Amino acid sequence: MTLSTPHTGASAEAIQHHYDVGNQFYALWLDPGMTYSSALWYYDSESLEAAQRNKQDWHLDRAGLDNAERLLDVGCGWGGLMRRALERKPDCHCTGLTLSEAQAAYINRLSAPNIEVRLESWADHQPDEPYDGIVSVGAFEHFARLDQSVADKIAGYRQFFEFCRRNLRAGGQLSLQTISYENASRSQFSQFFANDIFPESDLPHLAEIAEACRGIFEIVELRNDRHHYANTLRHWQKNLRAHKDEALALVGEAKYRDYEKYLALMVVAFHTGTMNLSRLALRRLPESTPFTSAR
Ligand SMILES: C[S@@+](CC[C@H](N)C(=O)[O-])C[C@H]1O[C@@H](n2cnc3c(N)ncnc32)[C@H](O)[C@@H]1O
Repeated sequence: MTLSTPHTGASAEAIQHHYDVGNQFYALWLDPGMTYSSALWYYDSESLEAAQRNKQDWHLDRAGLDNAERLLDVGCGWGGLMRRALERKPDCHCTGLTLSEAQAAYINRLSAPNIEVRLESWADHQPDEPYDGIVSVGAFEHFARLDQSVADKIAGYRQFFEFCRRNLRAGGQLSLQTISYENASRSQFSQFFANDIFPESDLPHLAEIAEACRGIFEIVELRNDRHHYANTLRHWQKNLRAHKDEALALVGEAKYRDYEKYLALMVVAFHTGTMNLSRLALRRLPESTPFTSAR
């Protein structure tokens, strides 16, 4: 099923503009597992790699990995969370969705048993059977566009939650992580981000997520971890600077400067609370749950 309006998140071309800059480039500054989202620190002294594993485990626990035979990762990046799932539960079948050709090729080259990657939007994904758990980390930021009305934006998010409910077994959980606006509005979204870094994308407000999932999922847990994202970004900045010469050789001066600026602006945004990092565990509600619109 291809959805008509209002779901109009970022197109595959817009996603590839960012994520297909080059796997070798991203490998210079991400952790060895190529995780491209905020980590979770339990202790300040933990490494980035350990903190990324903490984050993956947090989501996998909330998605019910221990009892899962089939797991879906919407926006799977380079597949790190699925690889972690299989370390813990080798017989679980993991399906990952991405719109990045470079990411899909990277995962396919690993030929990991029980990992299936699909170059497909969630809006087009029609599995034969429901999943036992769904995880989506750092992809929700691409599920709406700045030029949409707020009502269309929320309606698009609602279609995502309906997709998740339709493809999740009764009682199953969705574990979601996204950047959200806090002390800022979408009119203040930086033109640099909108044009050069993350085209065709917009962030949610927490209240928009709550409204969009009402009657479809209940929120059972919520963490605001903006300082964890600031910390993650500082690690990425340090790694990028340490590999400056290799990065320049791979992507050239202009792209390198754009990424330096983007990471620096994001550190400030999370440090000051312009943006938040929300992690939500959501329990699927039955189809018969009554829903009364707040609007
Ligand atoms: C910031 S990366 C996060 C990757 C990974 N979850 C991680 O934490 O490392 C965002 C991911 O969302 C994917 N994505 C964006 N829009 C999507 C859509 N409509 N359907 C499926 N994946 C999408 C991108 O292709 C990319 O893999």
